[in-house]
Amino acid sequence: MEVIIRPNEGAASELVAKLIARKLRARPQLVLGLATGRTMEHVYDHLSRLHREEGLDFSLCRTFNLDEYIGLSPDDPHSYRYYMNERLFGRVNIDLRNTHLPSGLAPDLRAECQHYEDLIRDCGGIDLQLLGIGRSGHIGFNEPLSALRSRTRDKALTPETIAQNAPMFGDDPARVPRRAITMGVGTILESGRCIVLATGAGKADIVAQAVEGPITSAITASALQLHARCTVVVDEAAAGGLKGTEYYRWIFENEPEWQEFRGQNGRD
Ligand code: GLP
Repeated sequence: MEVIIRPNEGAASELVAKLIARKLRARPQLVLGLATGRTMEHVYDHLSRLHREEGLDFSLCRTFNLDEYIGLSPDDPHSYRYYMNERLFGRVNIDLRNTHLPSGLAPDLRAECQHYEDLIRDCGGIDLQLLGIGRSGHIGFNEPLSALRSRTRDKALTPETIAQNAPMFGDDPARVPRRAITMGVGTILESGRCIVLATGAGKADIVAQAVEGPITSAITASALQLHARCTVVVDEAAAGGLKGTEYYRWIFENEPEWQEFRGQNGRD
């Protein structure tokens, strides 16, 4: 695992978008794992801009989202399918048939979850998985005590997650679905590379636990310590609880991979 600290949210999300763009240029048929949430909105703004201004080509790219609420239709403005269409897919030249999210309306949830796993496998696995982190320490909707080997399945959301996501539902926790389909922690750990983005002081405590604390199913993001190629990108605010920042900054300054990103402080 490595940690990259950027001065602000704009610079952190821009770096993540540029990492994705670099991968996509190197492999146009990239299998890209995507995430939702407020943090990712900035990444999708940057990717849309790179498409518009630099012709970043998504025409052969295939995508798999981490999760979807159960009971919401794709046309529901609160569904993650709607979010993805609005925030990214409708703004770049991706073929919608190459974009995948679990269906929250599937009559047989078990079959839907197995189908999702099969689709990922048939595409050759996820090359690069983008991840946010919930306040409960979840990745996807892998709530506390999710097995670190779990696969795509339906899960009940914790009250903390429901409260965290209520602002997207008119600030009414009662409107937030109680359950979701999510890729499992085991599914996520099989992707070729993981990039986690966390910004803002509200994430500082959970980021520190996930990165520097013990590996535990109580904080499923901590399982990423087991991943062979995981990069955590944070802004100064989200880095606030980390003890090893001096070392992380030293690595960033010295690893050849990050050369092109040094000295870039973002647009805001
Ligand atoms: C939801 C998603 C997670 C995401 C989290 C963070 O719970 N299921 O994948 O990481 O939101 O959300 P935000 O970026 O709004 O803090």
